Amino acid sequence: MCGIFAYMNYRVPRTRKEIFETLIKGLQRLEYRGYDSAGVAIDGNNHEVKERHIQLVKKKGKVKALDEELYKQDSMDLKVEFETHFGIAHTRWATHGVPSAVNSHPQRSDKGNEFVVIHNGIITNYKDLRKFLESKGYEFESETDTEAIAKLIKYVFDNREIEDITFSTLVERVIQQLEGAFALVFKSIHYPGEAVATRRGSPLLIGVRSKYKLSTEQIPILYRTCNIENVKNICKTRMKRLDSSTCLHAVGNKAVEFFFASDASAIIEHTNRVIFLEDDDIAAVADGKLSIHRVKRSASDDPSRAIQTLQMELQQIMKGNFSAFMQKEIFEQPESVFNTMRGRVNFETNTVLLGGLKDHLKEIRRCRRLIVIGCGTSYHAAVATRQVLEELTELPVMVELASDFLDRNTPVFRDDVCFFISQSGETADTLLALRYCKDRRALTVGVTNTVGSSISRETDCGVHINAGPEIGVASTKAYTSQFISLVMFGLMMSEDRISLQDRRREIIRGLRALPELIKEVLALEEKIHDLALELYTQRSLLVMGRGYNYATCLEGALKIKEITYMHSEGILAGELKHGPLALIDKQMPVIMVIMKDPCFAKCQNALQQVTARQGRPIILCCKDDTESSKFAYKTIELPHTVDCLQGILSVIPLQLLSFHLAVLRGYDVDFPRNLAKSVTVE
Ligand code: F6R
Repeated sequence: MCGIFAYMNYRVPRTRKEIFETLIKGLQRLEYRGYDSAGVAIDGNNHEVKERHIQLVKKKGKVKALDEELYKQDSMDLKVEFETHFGIAHTRWATHGVPSAVNSHPQRSDKGNEFVVIHNGIITNYKDLRKFLESKGYEFESETDTEAIAKLIKYVFDNREIEDITFSTLVERVIQQLEGAFALVFKSIHYPGEAVATRRGSPLLIGVRSKYKLSTEQIPILYRTCNIENVKNICKTRMKRLDSSTCLHAVGNKAVEFFFASDASAIIEHTNRVIFLEDDDIAAVADGKLSIHRVKRSASDDPSRAIQTLQMELQQIMKGNFSAFMQKEIFEQPESVFNTMRGRVNFETNTVLLGGLKDHLKEIRRCRRLIVIGCGTSYHAAVATRQVLEELTELPVMVELASDFLDRNTPVFRDDVCFFISQSGETADTLLALRYCKDRRALTVGVTNTVGSSISRETDCGVHINAGPEIGVASTKAYTSQFISLVMFGLMMSEDRISLQDRRREIIRGLRALPELIKEVLALEEKIHDLALELYTQRSLLVMGRGYNYATCLEGALKIKEITYMHSEGILAGELKHGPLALIDKQMPVIMVIMKDPCFAKCQNALQQVTARQGRPIILCCKDDTESSKFAYKTIELPHTVDCLQGILSVIPLQLLSFHLAVLRGYDVDFPRNLAKSVTVE
């Protein structure tokens, strides 16, 4: 949902070309977050006044189009060197206004580009702000909510009551007027060589690189010395004087570089030293020194921000020999599921320990019910594991789509335990559902793939799924790792249940064998490619199953529709005769997932109902299933595993099928139209 990237080189000479390359590479890493237009703001060409002139370059389309545009700008001297420079860049996923250069970011305060800003999120009160600013004579040029922020900061600046107001004070005053979600980075001709960044509800982190020792590992938060009641008072307030102990810098004021980004994948190739900003933090860099301040101190505030070391490797976010990130991520599943279990499942003692939950286990065991909440694929992971969670925890388990859960004002009690499943850890609906449950004092548990994400920080405890960075917009390896994380939770809960020991042992044996079985499924790629060749011109594709594999059908259909743009529906086979059967004829392609599990006989009934209507089912079945294959138009035969884990194997052929269908239909698999990886708006 939009990618923010900004780069400051302080006493590190860089040519304009090098600065462009850094900004463009940063945007390319974030392109999965949105890719309908992109832009940069950099210092202009005039050497004498270079810090006092900001040049904007914006382009509709992908980052590649912006990259080409930058080199077409005649006025840009690529060789000019900047000892200190601050450049900001953005790749957009349109929320307000069509994809176009004028609607793309950076947005500006005025035609002189006095203030420019990049934004990820949505400002919900932008119409009121715009009306107010228009009444003051500010002219808007775009349809975006972000432009109101750029104009507002200029309004605050133009109406300042003290001449030497700091850049961060201006930003502080601006964000007090904003409602909604945002991560923002500002640049201004009035504050050359300075940067200000802030966030509320959207992610933002800062990477730091220097050859020299850094002044601190913990940046103390500065709080305002007086209360800020209203706009007038804000003008009069001043920051406590910054000194070395409240700033991060390279010791001796030596060279240092700062990278601001929506996520770590854009930073990791430059540095693994990062600071995750918290909501309402205002981070400012001036004279190569980074300081962080907040307006008010609350009891729960951590009084400092630590510099953390990222464990991610650059290689993890490169495509390697694969043609798309999605394909690479599908093929990574033998390792990613292993990494999810690593150090947690002890195959010798048949025990499972999820470190992030162990201190809360007693409380969870005493709870009234489990509520598992997510969106899209993450919701499907909850559907997939509901039955085994009910069996192993012996608790009622509710599975909820975050948006619907909120729409219904679902009753939540303090003895409920609420799980929030989210690959990105930033999905707005899931995050709002989390806050809703926290307000009702339920215990909240995050299951995410992103260290430092909002959901992982705001939950009481959690599980990191350890799937590694997932770049493809269509989620694949995160699904199987979420699935395993929830199964591991069930196993941990049932450790002392004597009656469940055989079942637990069976599941743990199944987990151990999974990576090898996944490899067997991946070896079916060619067969699945052939199937895609037969199906890619179709308009519709039904996917049917029940029991443990109902989630496979929902997830398979979601993958197909989101990247192939074919209509696809995941159908519960038990519902077939209540309506969907009317869709069946010899033309309609139907995939049936029929596994050797307690629903096998019922699935055979559905199969009969389909073939009796001249349907020609393509059946995903177990290797030794001679019964289903008799009635199949085609079969894809999968290795057999324990019933509650079979969904991990059965979803992979559908991931592969959707990938090949999309390629054959000529679509960009990693960048499906209208979608973004991280949905930080409601
Ligand atoms: C589909 C897909 C989406 C996400 C959903 C939630 O392939 O990726 O349906 O699963 O937007 O995202 P997270 O898991 O980041 O909360």
